Amino acid sequence: MVKKILYINGDGVGPELMAGARSIVDELADVEWVEGEAGYAAYLKHGTALPNDTVVSAKACDAVLFCAVTTPPGIPNYKSAIIGMRKELDLYANLRPFDSLPNVPAPSWTGAPANSAPAPLHFAIVRENTEGLYSGIEEADEVRATALRVITRRASERIVKFAYEYAKKRSFSKVTLVHKANVLRKSDGLFLEVGRAAAKPYAPAIACEDAIVDSVAMRLVKSPGDFQVIVTTNLFGDILSDEASALIGGLGVAPSANIGQKYALFEPVHGSAPDIAGKGVANPTGMLRSAALMLAHLGLEPEARKLETAIESAYKQNIKTLDVGGTARTHDVVEAVRKNLN
Ligand code: NAI
Ligand code: MG
Repeated sequence: MVKKILYINGDGVGPELMAGARSIVDELADVEWVEGEAGYAAYLKHGTALPNDTVVSAKACDAVLFCAVTTPPGIPNYKSAIIGMRKELDLYANLRPFDSLPNVPAPSWTGAPANSAPAPLHFAIVRENTEGLYSGIEEADEVRATALRVITRRASERIVKFAYEYAKKRSFSKVTLVHKANVLRKSDGLFLEVGRAAAKPYAPAIACEDAIVDSVAMRLVKSPGDFQVIVTTNLFGDILSDEASALIGGLGVAPSANIGQKYALFEPVHGSAPDIAGKGVANPTGMLRSAALMLAHLGLEPEARKLETAIESAYKQNIKTLDVGGTARTHDVVEAVRKNLN
């Protein structure tokens, strides 16, 4: 069946990375592409970073493939397109899988003895995407500024359930609830209480552990192999997932999914990388891996696996961009992946 996909190039390296990803998806699936505008270029053209047409189109498509947008400094009241999309489509779960790639230098401390290759990592972070410290409720006067950290039973329940369903589907055997309930007794206390209850139906096949966020930040550096699926609130998830991307080679290789009850949007973790835009050197891996997550979400699991394997093979062949220690250009990596599909 033809899948209808809204693609949003965005700004900076967006158009060049999206072109490669679309051409690869076309090799794997029957897709009708619909273009949507968003980001700074859209703002300059339409006076808004997220035109209503884009939201309407997104709701009429099976999925959204998004690259990255620039948020320009110094424009008061500028509203970020990606944050707007997450809100408009109620994309409550932010999923970031972290999988090591062959021939990508990983930090030497990752659980391996000196002079040996670190063990490959395979884990995921699920971040609550709609509330917490990013609920957008802030106040300021001359002497004080406050931000309201909202934790609700409903959002906590659905995010933990999402994490367990993901663990089940991907054959993980442990989920870690990450919190700071020792200090944030009421808000994270609620997250923890609800999380433990939501975990019960999955025991004993999937174990539930909980851990305090600062110790998790330390353990991610020291022994990242401890983790399988981490589920946490908005701010903690934001910070831990950038930290985790460094363990597998940095922003250029990390994909993400934003998933809601009805809609889903897939995007690389990195931003618009204006410093390298138009030079043909950006790493397409995060974008391609995001496309693989999209295919899996659309029920095209074998095609998703095929794409992930083709990416891994390109790395085995040492075809990789500058940011991960290679010399290949964007185009070389995309073409290597295309060849490896067959
Ligand atoms: P960034 O992720 O764009 O770049 C950080 C560094 O990583 C830069 O040196 C860049 O060249 C490098 N990098 C990023 N993606 C890469 C890739 N695919 N291959 C090779 N190197 C890559 O983050 P930065 O510089 O903080 O932000 C730039 C713009 O992007 C800002 O306007 C920011 O607001 C926006 N942004 C947008 C996001 C989104 O659309 N979801 C997320 C993060 C930032
Ligand atoms: Mg971030």
